[in-house]
Amino acid sequence: MRGNKFSSRMFASLFVIVLGLCYCSRASSQASLGLPRLFGPSEALVKTAVEMNCELLTFPENETILLQLFREVDRSRMFAEYTSLKGKEATLPLYVRHFHEGNLVCVASAQNNSLIEPTVSNIHYLKVIEPVEGAEIEVCSGLVNLFEGNRLELRCKLKAGNHVSYKWLLNGRLVSQSLLHDDRLLINRTTSQDSGSYRCVASNSFNQTDFFTVNSTEVVITVKDLVSEPDISFSVLKEDIHNYFAVVSCRSTRGTPPVTFSLYNSTEFIASVMTEERFATFKVPLVLGQDLGFLQCQARNGDWVVYGEKIPLEVVPVGGPVTMRYTYDSGENYAVISITIYCEAAKGTHARYQWFLNGTLLHDRGSFYYVHHQHPELAMLMLSVGDSSAGTYHCEVSDSFDNTTAISSRRLYLDKHRLNRLPVWVVAVVFGSFTFLILLVSVCCGIGVVFRRRHYGEKSLSDFEMERITPAYYGKLDLSHYNEDADVVNAARGGEVDQASLVSVDEWPQIEEEKKTLEDEPAEEP
Ligand SMILES: *[C@@H]1O[C@H](CO)[C@@H](O)[C@H](O)[C@H]1NC(C)=O
Ligand SMILES: *[C@@H]1O[C@H](CO)[C@@H](O)[C@H](O)[C@H]1NC(C)=O
Ligand SMILES: *[C@@H]1O[C@H](CO)[C@@H](O)[C@H](O)[C@H]1NC(C)=O
Ligand SMILES: *[C@@H]1O[C@H](CO)[C@@H](O)[C@H](O)[C@H]1NC(C)=O
Ligand SMILES: *[C@@H]1O[C@H](CO)[C@@H](O)[C@H](O)[C@H]1NC(C)=O
Ligand SMILES: *[C@@H]1O[C@H](CO)[C@@H](O)[C@H](O)[C@H]1NC(C)=O
Ligand SMILES: *[C@@H]1O[C@H](CO)[C@@H](O)[C@H](O)[C@H]1NC(C)=O
Ligand SMILES: *[C@@H]1O[C@H](CO)[C@@H](O)[C@H](O)[C@H]1NC(C)=O
Repeated sequence: MRGNKFSSRMFASLFVIVLGLCYCSRASSQASLGLPRLFGPSEALVKTAVEMNCELLTFPENETILLQLFREVDRSRMFAEYTSLKGKEATLPLYVRHFHEGNLVCVASAQNNSLIEPTVSNIHYLKVIEPVEGAEIEVCSGLVNLFEGNRLELRCKLKAGNHVSYKWLLNGRLVSQSLLHDDRLLINRTTSQDSGSYRCVASNSFNQTDFFTVNSTEVVITVKDLVSEPDISFSVLKEDIHNYFAVVSCRSTRGTPPVTFSLYNSTEFIASVMTEERFATFKVPLVLGQDLGFLQCQARNGDWVVYGEKIPLEVVPVGGPVTMRYTYDSGENYAVISITIYCEAAKGTHARYQWFLNGTLLHDRGSFYYVHHQHPELAMLMLSVGDSSAGTYHCEVSDSFDNTTAISSRRLYLDKHRLNRLPVWVVAVVFGSFTFLILLVSVCCGIGVVFRRRHYGEKSLSDFEMERITPAYYGKLDLSHYNEDADVVNAARGGEVDQASLVSVDEWPQIEEEKKTLEDEPAEEP
């Protein structure tokens, strides 16, 4: 019983194994196509013939084997095929076209036996190269003449070529890579620096051995600068005693000509002119001393229009008094080393200033002085204090358009020794006065005591002396007050040396010290 059971189970197992073996041998005999191997060049020039190879090592006998070349993802279009009864390695000729580029596979199948499953090879990538040819620049943004801020887009158009790398040259120099996108050069906001002759160079290569390069023809791009806000100024022209004109100049610092300048007054357009430069002048009739509203320049190039500032059109002739004031710089030991003298007229919009030393006109610059002309309302003369700068200074102001009306300031005498000796002198005077005062008071007191004993009701000498001395003493102290105006030498026309100015010059350093101590005092208080 036991043996039976075992043998029947054994038989069942054997049957299964045999069945399996039978099935296996049947299957292998029917579908014994091995995996084909595809190989060949990885790059090919378009319109050339190449050979791809498909190798199949395992295949059933007496079956016609078909080897076909396809793109991996598209089996509807066969590129090449090869039939063989006993071919181990098939050569698949290919006349290379653009569409051959991509992942290729070789498919092996039995021609008349659908029972045999086809097999697919490895993937082989084929790159198809077409040499570049016929480069040409296309101006996609339209215009070759543009204005600053406009967009520029150029495209390098080729008759043929793929896998191309592009370079752009502007006036023979390489254009930054950051502006390039594939075959395009793109500048969103151009400036005049983007002007010039553009050329594109397209290139590709085959097999790392053959290089193809083409050159486009040149395209000249002009980027014009937009005109900047015009500055306005005017000078006065006297044609004769009754006819005055404002010669108005409008000037822009940037902008590619031609530029059209126009002039407006408060109410209307006056004139317009187109120029090849960046400035224009206009002549406008004028009445002296009268408010004629304002003037304004307009500048235009292309569609771009800008207006400048408005300036009042009013010409006030120079009027006195003409005043001089000065500041100084001192070096060590309070020695005055340089002085700046300012000259100012009470009125006058178009003043011209002239400086004189000992009555001789000082030109722009000399060994010890320098004449500043920057401020139209205020003239400056800078002096280094030395032997050569000693003398009597004055300034004259006249209308720039009519120099017959010069007004002179008072004269100011300056010299190094006076400027620098004076602190000692002032100290001596102040201390001297102080000592003298104390002495005097003491003497007076003594005398007073004696006199009071003799004449009880009589006015004392000491009182009288005090009255006499006090103004003088305070006079000196008053300098600190005088200081505020001391440097303003306010004088009408005159020939003689201005004594007040002398005092003011002399007292300066001493006063400064007094001022300093006065300023220091509150700080010391807690
Ligand atoms: C293949 O064909 C030959 C003759 O044509 C024959 O002798 C042979 O037995 C065949 N082989 C197979 C496996 O059918
Ligand atoms: C296979 O089939 C083709 C037609 O599909 C026929 O022309 C060819 O003769 C057949 N070859 C064999 C070996 O049967
Ligand atoms: C230029 O403008 C385009 C959109 O008009 C933008 O996508 C691009 O980033 C800009 N390029 C640069 C460099 O600003
Ligand atoms: C590709 O280049 C190799 C050398 O790098 C050369 O031997 C071969 O002939 C070239 N192939 C073609 C098709 O030019
Ligand atoms: C491109 O053209 C210029 C002049 O036409 C020439 O000098 C240059 O060598 C050319 N470059 C190439 C790569 O053909
Ligand atoms: C503006 O100019 C016109 C013509 O030159 C003149 O008639 C007019 O009076 C001027 N306006 C003012 C406010 O000056
Ligand atoms: C100006 O005159 C003074 C005398 O008044 C003289 O000392 C000084 O040297 C003169 N200066 C010049 C530069 O002539
Ligand atoms: C006034 O100026 C004119 C020209 O600038 C000059 O020829 C003339 O001598 C000057 N007259 C006076 C008095 O300065």
